[in-house]
Amino acid sequence: MSVNKIQFHDMQSSSNEFLVDVMQGLSQRPASIPPKYFYDAKGSKLFDAITQLPEYYLTRTEIDILSANADEIARHVGTGSILVEPGGGSCAKVHILLDGLKPTTYVPMDISKDHLRLSAQELSVAFPWLEIHAIYTDFTRELRLPQSTPQGTLLAFFPGSSIGNFDPDGAVGFLTLIEDLVGSGGYLLIGVDLKKDKAILEAAYDDAAGITAQFNLNLLIRINRELDANFDITAWKHSSLYNEQLGRIEMHLVSKHNQVVTINNTSFSFTEGETIHTENSYKYSTDEFITLASRAGFQSDALWLGADKLFSVHLFRVPQNHVKVGS
Ligand SMILES: C[S@@+](CC[C@H](N)C(=O)[O-])C[C@H]1O[C@@H](n2cnc3c(N)ncnc32)[C@H](O)[C@@H]1O
Repeated sequence: MSVNKIQFHDMQSSSNEFLVDVMQGLSQRPASIPPKYFYDAKGSKLFDAITQLPEYYLTRTEIDILSANADEIARHVGTGSILVEPGGGSCAKVHILLDGLKPTTYVPMDISKDHLRLSAQELSVAFPWLEIHAIYTDFTRELRLPQSTPQGTLLAFFPGSSIGNFDPDGAVGFLTLIEDLVGSGGYLLIGVDLKKDKAILEAAYDDAAGITAQFNLNLLIRINRELDANFDITAWKHSSLYNEQLGRIEMHLVSKHNQVVTINNTSFSFTEGETIHTENSYKYSTDEFITLASRAGFQSDALWLGADKLFSVHLFRVPQNHVKVGS
């Protein structure tokens, strides 16, 4: 007899937040739009295509590190945990950990609803013993487990260098939310991209096949479709650059000429060369990141680097009986 081991939870408040964020972001100079809006169904598919690109060393390097160290990770954390993955996406990397960790429950959280549902269903077929609670939510607003989640040691898994999308203070804020979620004795396994040669970094975010460009431009297609806008997609181009001073890759959409765009009956003017800033991806040395995580209450438990030292995977722990300053 088959047992239904998947539950879906909709924790996303339906609101006009997308419209509000786009109108606010485009009213500012420089204009910007938060990167979470990349991920409609098409954006999620394009991101998966990016992970397969030769220039995008991040995914394959992180997979190599996780595969080589899955047993050791399981030895640190133990079996029977509750494994929570904010931004689980295709839930591809968690496959590597499941046989060793044998968590009772996996909780992927994602803003891309249909993609999350499909990924959770596929994972359930591959791991029929695993209880899955898939949560449709915006993890920047709230990190909360459904009441039906069983008890157990909590392990948060945040791979893919997604922490780099926050600026350093924002990253401390988000890690503090994770620290609250996993609690005293809980763990965080996190993939963090390392500072390195500018040419390697810039190629990873501007591939020869133009998939990252499609991913970036898809944001405008989504705004046209969902927010009654009239962006001429051919009038914009993708640009990425490594800002060495701030230690971050920046992605922008650059206006090819002077133009006016209308969104929901409001007009926005852009001059030639003006940009919409769509994503940052901060890079860290291992010491910088350990210091940053300690500001959120985490203690370093283990650190793994690939042979080429392109990427890092950290295991952090909240000390037992950890009492927060000010609490
Ligand atoms: C860069 S991808 C990483 C996917 C996967 N974790 C990996 O390592 O390959 C970011 C994922 O987080 C999701 N995401 C981005 N912003 C989010 C937010 N604010 N709340 C929930 N999910 C978000 C996206 O839909 C996407 O699946």
